[in-house]
Amino acid sequence: MRSATNKQEWNDAAAVYAAEKAAYASGTAGGGPDRLCCPLLPSDVAGLRILDAGCGTGPVSRYLAERGATVVAVDVSDELIDRGQAAEEAHPLGITYLVHDLLEELPFEDGAFDAAVAVMVVMDVEDPLAAVRHIGRVVRPGGQFVFSLVHPCFYRPKVNTAGNGFDLATYFDRDRIEGRYIERNGTRADYRQFHRTLGDYLNTLADCGFCLVQFHEPGDSQLAISCRKQAR
Ligand SMILES: C[S@@+](CC[C@H](N)C(=O)[O-])C[C@H]1O[C@@H](n2cnc3c(N)ncnc32)[C@H](O)[C@@H]1O
Repeated sequence: MRSATNKQEWNDAAAVYAAEKAAYASGTAGGGPDRLCCPLLPSDVAGLRILDAGCGTGPVSRYLAERGATVVAVDVSDELIDRGQAAEEAHPLGITYLVHDLLEELPFEDGAFDAAVAVMVVMDVEDPLAAVRHIGRVVRPGGQFVFSLVHPCFYRPKVNTAGNGFDLATYFDRDRIEGRYIERNGTRADYRQFHRTLGDYLNTLADCGFCLVQFHEPGDSQLAISCRKQAR
């Protein structure tokens, strides 16, 4: 597995992350367990085959499956997948959970999915653009890919040392790895994020045959991109 460190980090973070997700579970601001990506998916997902890439404990998968989608949920962390699987066994929704590293080719045929969603995942993967390519391959022509990111321009600590703006030098430093952490109930879990520029993401989408549909910047240093794969 190429992402052994990510796997370890997210396995170690699983309990803290699950506690955080549970705490936010009712925060449905306009789109279920996530306010950025879900509202950009079709309002009626019934019958759609949807890939939840980097599903964590599966809150987005469950939200979509409850609305009639057929969901396959993949994540590098077996600890997180186990939690999703346990939820599936307690309340079956037909979700297939799979431990998978997004830096490896997904074990599905080209165009196997009508849509893919990746909620706050891509910048956590060691090679974000490879992950986008792998996801892009399995979305069918005419299908949709929606993903959210911390905003590569404005997410802390990319402000300059004066704290009042945007640091151009670090923005173009694509090798930069940023330390992040989640803290809950006095326990802290550290993990890394991998910086790419907006142009890197948009050009990768174009390379994968995607057309931009929406570029949503809510103004709080996060963003969501929705794109549609060109029909051949
Ligand atoms: C911020 S969490 C988001 C989880 C989920 N999408 C949600 O909304 O709750 C980032 C997720 O990316 C997963 N991840 C990190 N690197 C990965 C990789 N190489 N392949 C697959 N998943 C990965 C982590 O295990 C973690 O579940």
